[in-house]
Amino acid sequence: KSPKSRMIQRRLFSKVSKMVEEAKKLAGYAAVDNHVKDNQAVGIGSGSTIVHAVKRLAERVKEENLNVVCVPTSFQARQLILENCLPLSDLDRHPELDVAIDGADEVDSELNLIKGGGGCLTQEKIVASCAKSFIVIADYRKDSSALGEQWKKGIPVEVIPMAYVPVSRAIQSQFGGSADLRMAVSKAGPVVTDNGNFLLDWRFDQEHNWSAVNTTIKMMPGVVDTGLFINLAERVYFGMEDGTVKIR
Ligand code: 5RP
Repeated sequence: KSPKSRMIQRRLFSKVSKMVEEAKKLAGYAAVDNHVKDNQAVGIGSGSTIVHAVKRLAERVKEENLNVVCVPTSFQARQLILENCLPLSDLDRHPELDVAIDGADEVDSELNLIKGGGGCLTQEKIVASCAKSFIVIADYRKDSSALGEQWKKGIPVEVIPMAYVPVSRAIQSQFGGSADLRMAVSKAGPVVTDNGNFLLDWRFDQEHNWSAVNTTIKMMPGVVDTGLFINLAERVYFGMEDGTVKIR
């Protein structure tokens, strides 16, 4: 490639990155403005989109003197809550949350989600299931009619380390595709979750009944949880390329 075409490519990439970041911000701000009220316990998701939602929540706490407590879904979320000077709590003290807000890797037309791109799916699912409303925030790239249409990295499954080979074989023999151990970027070893477990990424090669698949995989000995979030999301906010927010 010529230096000129490389420069054009770099400019395009930076323009798209800015647009995606803006879309994440739009979704995060809209969800916090529409769903968080005074005196609430709020579940805080993980990933890059939630960063915007937490910033907005911190702004509202300052400006409106809101009284909220925040329950994190990961070490990252815990740090985000602390960095933004928001009150940190947990499910021991707040086992019932008013609302939980989190990102997603893909959302289908029925609000089924793939989550766990960042490896936090188990705690994210626990927190989402403790919330009266589970609200999802995402940029336009996550909007899909069927799972697998947009997200090509597969469905994450958190497993107890000693079980990763049997679980991988069981998933592949029952449902096809390939379920591979997630490796650290350095390739020095597997990714280890906040719970001390491994992750399999199951790249499926056909459409499935996701509710049945989720139940079957969860029943496999050694599986902690899957990144399939079925019947959990109440509403999804997509930040769009044109600066609008689409609500599903
Ligand atoms: C982490 C998650 C994230 O919420 C998901 O990967 C979306 O992340 P991002 O907001 O960075 O796109 O499930 O386990």
